[in-house]
Amino acid sequence: MLQSSQRPSPRKLNGKDPFEDEARFLKSWLERPLVTGAVTPSGRMLARTMASYVDPRVPGPVIELGPGTGPVTDALVRRGIAQDRLVLVEYNPEFCKLLKRRFPKATIIQGDAYDLGETLRESVAEKAAATVSSLPLFTKPMDVRLQLLKAAQEAMHLNAPFVQFTYAVVPPIPAKSKHYTASPSNRVWLNLPPARVWVYRRHA
Ligand SMILES: C[S@@+](CC[C@H](N)C(=O)[O-])C[C@H]1O[C@@H](n2cnc3c(N)ncnc32)[C@H](O)[C@@H]1O
Repeated sequence: MLQSSQRPSPRKLNGKDPFEDEARFLKSWLERPLVTGAVTPSGRMLARTMASYVDPRVPGPVIELGPGTGPVTDALVRRGIAQDRLVLVEYNPEFCKLLKRRFPKATIIQGDAYDLGETLRESVAEKAAATVSSLPLFTKPMDVRLQLLKAAQEAMHLNAPFVQFTYAVVPPIPAKSKHYTASPSNRVWLNLPPARVWVYRRHA
């Protein structure tokens, strides 16, 4: 999440205008701050760190929750995940339209990620390879976060990663559990604000 003035690259990145995405994001945050959860899209380093936990060789769809304007989606494609394996669950209809233009082969679901079983019911038949989430989990009570993790893990292969970023110093879902393991990335200092990625995997 580098500030515009700090970006080393030219105005257009891969045909996309980062300033336009920032404006879209800010508008969404002003309209629905608790749903949008951040004032700017994630930076490339954070997006790349999230995508690095997804193994492109593991079969099945890759589910992304809260893709927004698509920076993490872009990193997943660069990581080698074919677009047609991506299932993007986004609440904001304007972001969904943008995602459809940017990732025409992906499955885009305008829906509620916290009602995951129902939201995925008609689109995902196969066990997923990974779930990558940018949802602002701290706006939800802990039982809702735990329910989300459980639903995502039921939709995936055993031991597949549930990848979640946070700006907070504490994990968004408790790290200690008898049901899963949780491991943190190093802090991504190049993101503004600096962020950390947590990866949760279900026990056998
Ligand atoms: C912090 S933003 C992250 C956006 C993008 N992945 C990024 O890294 O820049 C959170 C995103 O989650 C979406 N979102 C929030 N609640 C949601 C829900 N219940 N279901 C689906 N998407 C949701 C918001 O609309 C927003 O696009």
